[in-house]
Amino acid sequence: MESSAVVVNDVRQELHLVTQVPGPKSVELQKRRVDAVSSGVGATLPIFVQKAAGGIVVDVDGNSLIDMGSGIAVTSVGNSASEVVDRVTKQAQAFTHTCFMVTQYEGYVEVCEALNRLTPGTHAKRSALFNTGAEAVENAVKIARAYTRRQAVVVFEHAYHGRTNLTMGMTAKVMPYKHSFGPFAPEIYRMPLSYPAHDGLTGSEAAAHAISRMEKEIGSENIAAIVIEPIAGEGGFIVPAVGFLPALVAFATAAKAVFIADEVQTGFCRTGNWFASEHEGIVPDVIVTAKGIAGGLPLAGVTGRAEIMDAVHAGGLGGTYGGNPIACAAALGSIATMERENLAEKAIHIETVMVPRLSEIADESGVIADVRGRGAMIAVEIVDRVSRKPDATLTTAIAKYCHAHGVIVLTAGTYGNVLRFLPPLIISDDLLNQALDIIQSAFAELAPSGN
Ligand SMILES: Cc1ncc(COP(=O)(O)O)c(C=O)c1O
Repeated sequence: MESSAVVVNDVRQELHLVTQVPGPKSVELQKRRVDAVSSGVGATLPIFVQKAAGGIVVDVDGNSLIDMGSGIAVTSVGNSASEVVDRVTKQAQAFTHTCFMVTQYEGYVEVCEALNRLTPGTHAKRSALFNTGAEAVENAVKIARAYTRRQAVVVFEHAYHGRTNLTMGMTAKVMPYKHSFGPFAPEIYRMPLSYPAHDGLTGSEAAAHAISRMEKEIGSENIAAIVIEPIAGEGGFIVPAVGFLPALVAFATAAKAVFIADEVQTGFCRTGNWFASEHEGIVPDVIVTAKGIAGGLPLAGVTGRAEIMDAVHAGGLGGTYGGNPIACAAALGSIATMERENLAEKAIHIETVMVPRLSEIADESGVIADVRGRGAMIAVEIVDRVSRKPDATLTTAIAKYCHAHGVIVLTAGTYGNVLRFLPPLIISDDLLNQALDIIQSAFAELAPSGN
């Protein structure tokens, strides 16, 4: 019987499993993968994708899975979104690469104009484009050091900023990101993050603690940059208590240090605003973007106050591929889609569907210590029912259950006990509710109450 499900780009928007997950074709490909690909490159699910659109990923065995991860917060406009595909196709036919540092093109300028317009603050801004979030974070630090002529970089507990040498040093968690890869760059100082579910502090108390440590351990006159994710992503979707971020901005301003918001994961409508900084009205000096900016193509940006961004000598920033014309075309398609379809509002809607249902699962199961996040960046923190200690084993089991039943979910958190959800912002309520049904069954089966 033909179902009545909506079809996006020839992909029926319904969960439909025709084999076990992984199916035989994925298992075959997995064997080739093991022989050909470094085992250092991980994969959350052992499946191989054939097609993806809307909120569905179709694997090579014909299974349709619900996408609650968006390729780690990237395909916010959906996979192969029509305006992204159209612009990418036209650009690929016109030219694929010149290197912006050699001969320039309008798309790069247009993306910088969009970043300058959309990021918080009405001051004069400049942007520069790169390929990945980590590369952009590195460049933000370079720019802050050049501007301040200082060296110290402040980062926070639970932070994730990437896998290059500098950003590994800035990242908190050792396994799997840093283990055996040192030595790391010097002049990185880690401060306590506001973590309301754990520290019980108000935002201003937590900030006072971090600021006092910065003053004593680094000296405010030595700080080039304070780098922070407005919501810690890989760290477990930790939303700092209200007041924490504004207090850090005020401190940075007084110290003449550059406040850098790493919005690689939180940016581009993900949390219900264009940028998560907006929830508390903070205006970062520099903001780093990537992931959701370009609907699946590699692009990253650093946007900041004109006087900071222009403090670097000519030729000091760049790279062969940074701001590649096809990635820029994708970004312009992605941004136009977000504006036209008001995807920030859609993210808020996703929160209103997810949070009540996850809270219900928390009440039923007794193993969820916290339901948190903003917009379409929502997570649950899973603990042992009795000891209330982080339960990474149960978290992994629940994620695996979801995968086997056709829902792509991700885990996160310093203690590996956070189940996180990053659905594409265009996902239908139907798919969202089906995914939540399966998540609910996972908890009912693996953490039955009364145990
Ligand atoms: C907050 C944050 N910063 C930086 C990065 C690194 O981005 P990329 O993987 O594109 O280098 C990530 C990636 O997950 C991130 O979440």
